[in-house]
Amino acid sequence: MKFSLVGVLIAAVVATATPANSGCKQIQYQFPSGSGNPERAKAVVDAYRRVYGEYEKYCFGKDGLQPISKTCDNGSLWGFGGTIIDGLDTAIAMNLTDIVAKGLENTAKVDFSNVTILVELFDANIRIIAGLLGAYDLLKSGMFFNDYPKDQIDALLAGAKTLATNLKPCFDTPSGVPASFTNFTNKQPSHKAQNTAVVGTLILEYFHLSDLTGDDSFAALARKAESYLINPKPAPKYPGLVGGQVNTDTGDFLDYNFGWQSGLDSFFEYLIKTHIYDPGQDRNSEYLNFWTLAVDSSMKHDTVSPYGFPNLKFLSNTDTLGNLKYSIDDYTCFAGGNFLLGGAYLGRQDMKDAGIALTDSCHQAYNTTLTGLGPLTLAWYNENNTAYNPAYNNDTALREYATKNGYFIPPEGFSAVYFSFPETIESIWYAWRITGDTRWREYNWEIFKALNTTRSEDIPYWEILNVNKPSGGGAWNSLSTYFFAETLKYLYLSFTDPEVLSLDRFQFNTECHPFLIQQGTCAVSYPRDYDSPRVYKQKLNLERVEL
Ligand SMILES: *[C@@H]1O[C@H](CO)[C@@H](O)[C@H](O)[C@H]1NC(C)=O
Ligand SMILES: *[C@@H]1O[C@H](CO)[C@@H](O)[C@H](O)[C@H]1NC(C)=O
Ligand SMILES: *[C@@H]1O[C@H](CO)[C@@H](O)[C@H](O)[C@H]1NC(C)=O
Ligand SMILES: *[C@@H]1O[C@H](CO)[C@@H](O)[C@H](O)[C@H]1NC(C)=O
Ligand SMILES: *[C@@H]1O[C@H](CO)[C@@H](O)[C@H](O)[C@H]1NC(C)=O
Ligand SMILES: *[C@@H]1O[C@H](CO)[C@@H](O)[C@H](O)[C@H]1NC(C)=O
Ligand SMILES: *[C@@H]1O[C@H](CO)[C@@H](O)[C@H](O)[C@H]1NC(C)=O
Ligand SMILES: *[C@@H]1O[C@H](CO)[C@@H](O)[C@H](O)[C@H]1NC(C)=O
Repeated sequence: MKFSLVGVLIAAVVATATPANSGCKQIQYQFPSGSGNPERAKAVVDAYRRVYGEYEKYCFGKDGLQPISKTCDNGSLWGFGGTIIDGLDTAIAMNLTDIVAKGLENTAKVDFSNVTILVELFDANIRIIAGLLGAYDLLKSGMFFNDYPKDQIDALLAGAKTLATNLKPCFDTPSGVPASFTNFTNKQPSHKAQNTAVVGTLILEYFHLSDLTGDDSFAALARKAESYLINPKPAPKYPGLVGGQVNTDTGDFLDYNFGWQSGLDSFFEYLIKTHIYDPGQDRNSEYLNFWTLAVDSSMKHDTVSPYGFPNLKFLSNTDTLGNLKYSIDDYTCFAGGNFLLGGAYLGRQDMKDAGIALTDSCHQAYNTTLTGLGPLTLAWYNENNTAYNPAYNNDTALREYATKNGYFIPPEGFSAVYFSFPETIESIWYAWRITGDTRWREYNWEIFKALNTTRSEDIPYWEILNVNKPSGGGAWNSLSTYFFAETLKYLYLSFTDPEVLSLDRFQFNTECHPFLIQQGTCAVSYPRDYDSPRVYKQKLNLERVEL
């Protein structure tokens, strides 16, 4: 489709909301004005200020706070000031101007190339690079207060570019499938065993970085790595449901372990999000098509109900041969939101229905525990009333719990912990923004209150060891940086005006860092002064990508 300059100017003037019926895609529910709940939004902002205040007081500039001992971690995110960077765009969206000013000043001083320990591609990308780009986008968008020193805002993009440049040796493998770590001094890749999520959680950030810097080398590296995942060898057990481990020498898959759990999750997540971010960038449909294939297969072969609970639906974990294990980890709970996003974009009601059922089922796990928070791992008895692990078949306590709630928490390892997990809150937020049904944000309010209750006055937040014990069965001396990036952001966005970070204007990386959609949805089908330089130029040249 081509359009004239006159058309562009008119569209830019009139398109304060959504141009109707212009062939563009509408994702978010069209809320009437006044759909926010300012009081509840403010309660979340107060929680951010209270908990972040502890980090500022005891550990400012370091990576993280250990909230009970009030000691600091400065190394888990390479001493870059991980909590500041991961939380920055949330603070910008909340207009916490003093926190943002201090955070920008500190971040501008960080040297993203001076690290002696090994740097891990995955977390450096999703938390640091994406945190820097998310903050940069919000400050450049003109949608938020941005009267901060310009050189400090520009330092965000420069820092992301420096870090991504130093990470390039990770891709120095025979196939181009990245290794997990690199050493900034000798510039060698390290730790070659690789999972699918690490390889497949690059395209969104790396495309955006290339768009913003004009340097296409980042996009090229991510596209090459991704090419092995969407052309899987050997063929997976079901179309689109690729294995969990990739050989970095050949790009071949090493197992048949499929599903939407940790190790695979954000590979699927990014296929649809990167397509929506810019349909032209994925060569018009490669990623979208693979995502559709995977979701269709997942609905058919991986979506199961516990015995006696036909309304609950979970996307099961599998073993290395691809047999269902009738359990999920909490990470899987992002999938409901991802199905809803893609279903809304494609107009696929079956995907939206599946997304609602998956989200309701993860919510069930929160709603039925003593604390109101969900566990890391849950399992259930299958259609034949048996568990994957036979040890649980005759366990009376587990049987009783499952008969009541549909699932049980396996009595092993870290199954019962709640470590600030955002995924269920995330899917509930997508359900709210896509359906407009207010029951969803009531759920997130209940979860927010649950988060807020097991704390003491002098320790405003900690992570808990057992979601089914009074006061969480003990406190874990940790405050994950994603509590600020994701948990509190999804909660805030559940109550603030739905136009704030609208799904028609932003795509969120797997750590909830918002990137401005480049083209394709209704809200962005006209040039804006905050498009990336590449797309802005393209639009001015009136060469729109065919959709
Ligand atoms: C954290 O560690 C980094 C890297 O070692 C160092 O440059 C930085 O000064 C440390 N931050 C603080 C606040 O001590
Ligand atoms: C954000 O805070 C600044 C400084 O306190 C204030 O001037 C501005 O009006 C606020 N913006 C919004 C959108 O609330
Ligand atoms: C690199 O960091 C170390 C320790 O954090 C510091 O002593 C050194 O001066 C830094 N080097 C450069 C070139 O900035
Ligand atoms: C990184 O490489 C340098 C130079 O070869 C070496 O001295 C250092 O021990 C390496 N660091 C790590 C953490 O492997
Ligand atoms: C479960 O949901 C109901 C209805 O939304 C609510 O009243 C109740 O407090 C919730 N229970 C827990 C433990 O979250
Ligand atoms: C349940 O039992 C039936 C009959 O034995 C069998 O055909 C089916 O495969 C079983 N289902 C599962 C999930 O094990
Ligand atoms: C479990 O209970 C059934 C009867 O309910 C019994 O036949 C079976 O032997 C028991 N299995 C184990 C491992 O105890
Ligand atoms: C959250 O906890 C704080 C501190 O105990 C309290 O002041 C606040 O009212 C609580 N908020 C909600 C919504 O319960």
